[in-house]
Amino acid sequence: MHRDIENNEAGIFNRCFGSRAGRIVEIGCGNGRLTCHLEKHAESVLGLDPCEADLDQARQCVGTAVQLAVGSGEAIPLENGACGAVVFTLSLHHQDSARALKEAARTLNAKERILVIEPKANTLGANLFAVIDDESHRYVIAEAAIQDSGLKVVDYGDVLIHWTFEDYNEMVEYIFGYYGLNPDPERESAMAALTGARKNDIPLIVEDETRFWLLEP
Ligand SMILES: C[S@@+](CC[C@H](N)C(=O)[O-])C[C@H]1O[C@@H](n2cnc3c(N)ncnc32)[C@H](O)[C@@H]1O
Repeated sequence: MHRDIENNEAGIFNRCFGSRAGRIVEIGCGNGRLTCHLEKHAESVLGLDPCEADLDQARQCVGTAVQLAVGSGEAIPLENGACGAVVFTLSLHHQDSARALKEAARTLNAKERILVIEPKANTLGANLFAVIDDESHRYVIAEAAIQDSGLKVVDYGDVLIHWTFEDYNEMVEYIFGYYGLNPDPERESAMAALTGARKNDIPLIVEDETRFWLLEP
């Protein structure tokens, strides 16, 4: 499996952070998939994630300017004004979004920016994952928190990305495995119906979309 082989999500960083920000904090860095791209835009990066196992994977792929720590966006372990940008990489909907945005604004230098990248509902990719866990209500809550935050939206857009699977079976195993489950026939047939005529494609390419907001205090 490869998510976003074209690095379109990393392209959002090029669009939003032309010159190098001092210290960037990444909230929900996970296994470091995007952290290694963010690194090019900052003097240093602090990646926070509550999942120790993901951070262990991230340690394998990031450079020396990246510090990784167990932590939450709801309580960023930095003083007021200590960083040049805060980036939520598909993580805002996993936490108390309003509280996390307030925390992000607190830690920013004057005039600096918050970038939020979130999944979009109702794409083929989102619908396949939603067969097991429909998160779409959480995307709505996260988006409402952005609108109610008092932060100014200075850029906004949708970015097409692709999941590339060796074949249909790899896709089914990956999606069930993501939730720590073994495939079951009922939900597998819901995935087959969504995949439709593409079920025999090799590789199997699944469209998805990411939405981003660039915010200023
Ligand atoms: C969909 S994954 C995204 C991982 C990675 N940023 C990427 O784009 O591949 C969401 C991440 O948010 C993390 N997360 C969950 N609750 C969080 C919280 N309160 N603060 C920060 N990150 C959190 C999860 O552990 C997970 O790594």
